[in-house]
Amino acid sequence: MIWRLTLPLAAAALMGGLLAPCLASAQSREALPPEAAYLSANCANCHGPQGRSAGAIPSLAGLPSRYIVEQMQAFKAGTRPATIMHQLAKGYTDAQFELMASYFSSLPKP
Ligand code: HEC
Repeated sequence: MIWRLTLPLAAAALMGGLLAPCLASAQSREALPPEAAYLSANCANCHGPQGRSAGAIPSLAGLPSRYIVEQMQAFKAGTRPATIMHQLAKGYTDAQFELMASYFSSLPKP
C-alpha cells in the first residue's frame, strides 16, 4: 500500500528536479539582450550549436561567464597562446565578450 503514496511523490520529485534547472537557465537567457545570442552564433561553426562541441574544440556551454571573459581578453592580449582565437578575439569589445560569456554560461553543460 505504501507504493501508492510514494510513487507519485517520487515522480513529482524527479520531474521537479529535472525541470527546475531548465527553467532557471531559460529565464536567465531570456533576460539577455538579443545581441547576446546573435554574437554567439558566430562561435557555433567551431564550438558547436548552443556551445556544444562534438569535436576537439572545447565546448563553451555552461562555462563560468567570468572564465570566458578572461580567456577572450587573454587571447586578445596575446597572453594565452592560441591557433585561431587570438585572431578572432581582436574583433570584439569587452562589452561583447560579456554578452557572449553570459549567453554561453546560461546554457546547460554538455
Ligand atoms: C575557427 C574556429 C573557431 C571559432 C569561429 C571560434 N573559436 Fe573559440 N576556440 C577555437 C579553438 C581552436 C580554441 C582552442 C584555442 C586555440 O587554439 O585558438 C578555442 C578556444 C576558445 C575558448 C577557451 C575555452 C577553454 O576551455 O579554455 C573560448 C572561451 C572561446 N574559444 C570562445 C570563443 C567565442 C566566444 C567565439 C565566438 C566569438 C569563438 N570562440 C569562436 C576555435 C574557434
